[in-house]
Amino acid sequence: RLLIIDFGSQVTQLIARRLRELNVYCEIHPFQRVTADFLADFAPKAVILSGGPASVVNPDSPRPPAKVFDLGVPVLGICYGQQVMMQMLGGQVDGGKISGGGGTAEFGRAHVSPVGDLDLLQGWFTGPDSTGREQVWMSHGDHVSRLAPGFQVFGTSPNAPYAITADTDRRFYAVQFHPEVHHTPKGSRLYENFVQLAGFDGDWTMAGYREQAVNAIREQVGDARVICALSGGVDSSVAAALIHEAIGDQLTCVFVDHGLLRKDEASEVVGMFRDHMNLSVIHAEEQDLFLGELEGVSDPETKRKIIGKLFIDVFQKYADQIEGAAFLAQGTLYPDVIESVSFSGGPSVTIKSHHNVGGLPEKMGLKLVEPLRELFKDEVRALGRELGLPPSFIGRHPFPGPGLAIRCPGEITRAKLDILREADAVYIDQIRKHGLYDEIWQAFVAILPVRTVGVMGDGRTYDYACALRAVTSVDGMTADYYPFSHEFLGETATRIINEVPGINRVTYDITSKPPGTIEWE
Ligand code: XMP
Repeated sequence: RLLIIDFGSQVTQLIARRLRELNVYCEIHPFQRVTADFLADFAPKAVILSGGPASVVNPDSPRPPAKVFDLGVPVLGICYGQQVMMQMLGGQVDGGKISGGGGTAEFGRAHVSPVGDLDLLQGWFTGPDSTGREQVWMSHGDHVSRLAPGFQVFGTSPNAPYAITADTDRRFYAVQFHPEVHHTPKGSRLYENFVQLAGFDGDWTMAGYREQAVNAIREQVGDARVICALSGGVDSSVAAALIHEAIGDQLTCVFVDHGLLRKDEASEVVGMFRDHMNLSVIHAEEQDLFLGELEGVSDPETKRKIIGKLFIDVFQKYADQIEGAAFLAQGTLYPDVIESVSFSGGPSVTIKSHHNVGGLPEKMGLKLVEPLRELFKDEVRALGRELGLPPSFIGRHPFPGPGLAIRCPGEITRAKLDILREADAVYIDQIRKHGLYDEIWQAFVAILPVRTVGVMGDGRTYDYACALRAVTSVDGMTADYYPFSHEFLGETATRIINEVPGINRVTYDITSKPPGTIEWE
């Protein structure tokens, strides 16, 4: 496996993405953790030193242990990683914007030209540009001003005479730019060459991961029982399916039905896991409890807190009935695990308190099984397909833990929830019929706490208004509204008003995130 030492660059995760795309298994670890002992345990086959915001000119700036350079494995330094490598191996780095000769601070697009041949650059300088230049993305304040002994220049740009350098005998490579970002269009080629010369054969596949994960779960769990809070979302579903494959009936899932699910959702999820996947699933029907506690509550954070607390109580109640449970399964993903290297350290503001089962394991004295900890979201989907979960299930839009409660601004009533479920079902049906479901990150209806006047047939109506929401997004952190055609919107509004008693007005929410959020509460 390959080790990425993170010095806090905004784009370190992208390095891991590029390597996974090449079917190479890698892990990111923050520099604070990577000691000489850690290196000995990890035994990497290659090391990448990431970029980062610090300046090597500052004597307190982060360093990898010197042992990195004694392992006898290829090392690639990127940006800050390049500078740290050069300085530790006896070269020199100068800070700031120095004009003339040595180079200057540089942010953005640049072009690198080749100097001689290098294995790392095989097939790289073959662009349409007759000079053989390649576009790269630079982002650095400091620059190398003298190479370490053994290093040679293999690529230069107008502002970076040492854009690409290497000590080919020791297989140390140092680049000033970021090959992992989109703006270095052929950056993946460089990673491909690096992993090849490090001896990786690109055999890390989902089938392989499945087998490895199944063995690891068996080893971790032994004969103990495992419980899992199944939400119907992709992550907990794939985790449950994988653990079931490993330990069969030692796994019991609890599906908490809080009465805030979409139309037919509970029966679909429970049915699929029980009948299709043969899992043991407890259907905790606690609608009355949740809806009772939520009665009269309109404040969004209060709603979230009530649901979060009840969820934990209910889950614990059912879990206590499962004898000998020693482990709690969770669908934690890799992006949740990577410890970010924070230099700013300021407190961040809570926009919404998220619903999860954090804190439960300690409270119940359970150990954690987290078989997806090493995967990115799209890899979880691939694993789900590998495990035989239906594609329609794997491609489902995200659904928040507090469910329809946060799509029903104001007071929640059973009547409103019923109307909302019907409207949402019609809307999603429309999206599927028009073949748009997979293009959209998330789509849903919110029922508004306002009734408006309408006319249907010869009569007056006084019913609820609703808002349709559909967004595109990559990770849910930012989002854009989906540009439906007017025909689609018109047809959908007509269908909802005709088919859903209780709604007489439909609006489309065209707020992006930020400044809006995806959910209404
Ligand atoms: P917002 O509304 O914050 O949502 O823009 C971003 C994404 O997160 C989902 N979401 C949640 N998911 N528990 C979850 O598991 C929650 O409490 C929660 N709140 C929002 C939301 O549906 C969107 O995909």
